[in-house]
Formats: sequence, C-alpha cells, structure tokens
Amino acid sequence: MNKQLISAFVLFFLIACQSANRTAKLPFDPFNYGANKRTESENGAVASAHPLASKVGVEIMKQGGNAVDAAIAVQLALAVVYPQAGNLGGGGFMVARLSDGQNITIDYREAAPGAAHRDMYIDSAGNPRTDKSQNGHLASGVPGTVAGLFESAAYGKLSFRKLIEPAIILAEKGFRISTREAAGLNRLQNDLRKYNTVQPVFIKDTPWQDGDILIQKDLANTLKRIRDKGAAGFYEGETAKLITAEMKRGGGIITEEDLKNYKAIKRQPHIFHYKEYQIIGMPMPSSGGLLVNQMMKMIEKRNIGAMGFQSPQSVQLMVEAERRAYADRAKFMGDADFYKVPVKELTTDKYLEERMKDYTSEKAGSSTITSPGALPGYESPETTHLSVLDKEGNAVAVTTTLNNSYGSRTVVGGAGFLLNDEMDDFSVKPGVPNMYGAIGGEANAIAAGKRMLSSMTPTVVLKNNQPFLVLGTPGGTTIPTSVFQTLVNIIEFNMSTTDAVDKPKFHHQWLPDEVYTELGFQPRTQDALEKMGYKLKPSTSIGRMEVIRVLSNGKIEAVADRRGDDSAEGL
Ligand code: GLY
Repeated sequence: MNKQLISAFVLFFLIACQSANRTAKLPFDPFNYGANKRTESENGAVASAHPLASKVGVEIMKQGGNAVDAAIAVQLALAVVYPQAGNLGGGGFMVARLSDGQNITIDYREAAPGAAHRDMYIDSAGNPRTDKSQNGHLASGVPGTVAGLFESAAYGKLSFRKLIEPAIILAEKGFRISTREAAGLNRLQNDLRKYNTVQPVFIKDTPWQDGDILIQKDLANTLKRIRDKGAAGFYEGETAKLITAEMKRGGGIITEEDLKNYKAIKRQPHIFHYKEYQIIGMPMPSSGGLLVNQMMKMIEKRNIGAMGFQSPQSVQLMVEAERRAYADRAKFMGDADFYKVPVKELTTDKYLEERMKDYTSEKAGSSTITSPGALPGYESPETTHLSVLDKEGNAVAVTTTLNNSYGSRTVVGGAGFLLNDEMDDFSVKPGVPNMYGAIGGEANAIAAGKRMLSSMTPTVVLKNNQPFLVLGTPGGTTIPTSVFQTLVNIIEFNMSTTDAVDKPKFHHQWLPDEVYTELGFQPRTQDALEKMGYKLKPSTSIGRMEVIRVLSNGKIEAVADRRGDDSAEGL
C-alpha cells in the first residue's frame, strides 16, 4: 500500500471515529425516564439506586455481558448519575456467586494513605478533630473503586471499553436530574463552596430543580482516560496528578505513590448456613458478613416465624441479637490484615448460645451488662447497593460508598469526581465518637495502608445450591441489621419481596442503648417494647434495599426500595 493510500485510510478512520463519538447514543432516553419498583423477567435483572444505572446494566446484558459486566457498568453509570454515593473516588465490595459454582469476594475498600497515623485527627491539646476526618481533603482514604472494577472485570465477558461507554455518554451529554437529586445538590452548596479549591459543576447560583440537565465534562475526560489506559488511567498519569495537586491545594496527604500502590484484594467469602440456606457475605474489612452470621445464628433455634412479623416478641428477640453482635463489632472487628479478628471464635454455636444465655423475652436487655467493651457507632446512611442476576445464574451483589452523602464534599479539580471521607470510619481516638456517634478501639485504629472497618453487607443467598436472593443496602451501621431483617422477613415470615423491602425497619447497635424505629413502625409493638423497658428513637428512613429473588416458577424478580429513586429493570 502506498503512503498516500495509508494516510487517506487513517484520515477516514479518524473521521469515522469522531463522527461515531458525536452520534454515540444510549438505547434509552436520559432526559426522560422514571423508576420501576418491581420487575419479573426470565433473562436477568438489575436493581440499583438510579433508573438510568439499572437501564445501563440491562443493556449490557442484552449485548451479551454477564452479571459481572452489568455490575461494573452500573457502578460506572452511578459514578455519573448518582454523585452522592456512586463513585470513582470511593471504595466498595463485590460478592458474587458465579454460574460455575465459584464464590468470589473483591475488597476495594479505601486504604489509609502512607502518611496516615493513629493520632492524625488529634490536635496538640489532645482534642479530636472529627471535622477533619469528615470533610475536606484530609478525610479521604486512597480510592479503591477503579482498581475493584478492573479486578472484577476478570469475571466478565465484555471489553471494559464497552462497559464504560454508557457512563462516558451520560457524563458528556448529560442527564435529567430528579427532585431528590436536586434537593441533595441544593443542601450541599455551602459545603461545596467551603471544601473545594476549583469550582465544581455541582455549584450553581440558582437552586437546582427537577428537570435540570447535569453535564460533567471533566468527569467524562477522567472516564476516557480510564477507558484508554485501564486502571493506570486513574492511579497514574494525568488523573493521579490532578488528585495529588488537589491534595496539595487543600492540605490532604494522598501521594502519587499511594495511588500507584493501591490494590484491590480478592478475599475468601464469609459463608455460613441458616436452615436450608447458604449465605455468602463479605469478610473483613467489612463487619457485614460476620454480623449477619451472628444475628441469624442467635435467632435460628427460637422459632421466630411463629412469633409473627414485627410482633413485640420477634422484634425483641432480633433487637437482643443485634445488641450482642454490635457489642462484638466494637471490640473485635477491623481490617484483619492488621488486627487478628477472631472470626471463628465469634461464630461457633457454643459462643453464640453463651451470648444469648442472659436473654429473656418480655424484658429489655442492657448494654451496660451485655459487654463492657469499646462502643460501636452509627455511620452515614449514604452508600449505595446494586444487585444483578443473569440468565446463566451469575449473581452479583455490590455495595459501594463515599461514606457521607457526597463524601468529603471535595471534587478533584479538573477530574470532576468527589473524594470519599472514609477515614471517619476508623476510630479517630479510642472512646471518641465519629460523625454518627461511632466509637471504636484498637481493632479499628488508624494505620498507614490499613482499611477502615465497614458495615457494607453485599449478600448472596443460595437455596439448593442455586442463587435464591441477591441483596444489600446503604445505611452505615444499619446495613447489617437491615439485611438481617430482610432475610428474616423472607425466610421466616414468608413475605413478598416488596413487603420485605418496604415494611418499616428497626435497628439496635448496642450503644447507644436505643431501638431506632422507622416511620410507620407498628405503634402497638412500640408500646409493648417501651413497657418492656426499651428506649425507642424514631428514624425517618432506614436503608434502601435492592433485592433480586428467584421465584419458585424460575422467574427472576427484582425489587427496588420505595425509599428513593431506586429502580429495577429486567430482561
Ligand atoms: N461508610 C459506610 C460503611 O462502609 O459502612
């Protein structure tokens, strides 16, 4: 071929690429969409916090992708359309049961930067500076999400380029925001002005409203660098430089070396059996799998099904199981690569029977008597979960987070994504409560490279060795108790999935010694609990659960929580 012909061919190719990019379109309308709360389908389903993200997941499966591909594409889409918790600058966990029988868990939790140390949030007078662990540049751990997506991609079928394309289009061309999203952005304006060195697109002089279009060009460019260079498009080169420049401008400590060294980790799942079900959960640094195990086993032999849904008896039994498990969380749980977590000892039948020995029905327990250990806490409700099941039987549960709503409120200048404030999930100082009252001890103390204890509980349940449920939720420390209650609602109270998700929830976490009851909780049960000696605390909303269930006729049911814009899609 002569040189002229080659040049003409290259030119034609470039023009074709550019024009394909200009006309790149999504197979759904991002400016006009709504949420589905329940679907029934035969070939797969997705439930996530945002209708557009769920649609992306289904499209990926239509293009031949499996549930892992869909879960990756949904997370990337959430990083664009759900900035309060979807993320590139945060971390997460994936729990999957693959159709070949493999159980996989991937840990892409943020890690403390190399310069982090135990007392980094304590000032010279010995006072804790939780303002710094919760907001702004110093609050961020080294982001894990992008590494996690590439680690997960080993179990997918499609090219990463295909999986990231919908997110790029949504960022570049924009999408319509909902009333809820507008309200979230409006609440954030002061913090955004305070914690940013470069004005992000989220700042607006007039209030955001339903119908506004959010276009994120910087984010689109970051996504393109990831598309073209893989994980190095985030952890090295231009994006890494933008992150470290942001750190320097705002007094943060994440370095290029921290970014380059970050690794997602494949871990052994936390698995246990409850009656005829096998429950696959996340191990440390998530407390979720272990807590659900402890709570389920503490009630297993007590015939809770006969007590009835949210009867005083069943709620009291569950609250007492929650109290005991969360007392253990405070004392024993943290990143097991840094602290020996006695997982086996905490889950033996003998130990759990012993824990329930002083349980009496009809009377409230006491957190002073239950354990004198370090205190547990209440973390941010802003995290997000997605559940995916494909027609081959691959089941994927992913929970991902920036910690607080919109994380540290710091957007990386020129890169367009929010950074997490996950450092606050560490115990900043023994005995000092963090953002939501969390107190911890040695197990969860800060150390360079350590991962902060999480409550995220992505879960897959098998029945007859086949996927039966894929579930999870945001909600900080309420995550494990919400997963616990949803499992009990379905397995023991034979509830429909919609009821199991939507009925009001409750929560106890040892300390404070209070039962949080969600709006709409049974007044008669509340009265009975108060008579037994429980202190109740009303809560407007607990969790946003996404559940996929395989029905007895083999159909796949997906249910998205009523509490948000959450949406289910099937194919
Ligand atoms: N930041 C919430 C959690 O990981 O539990």
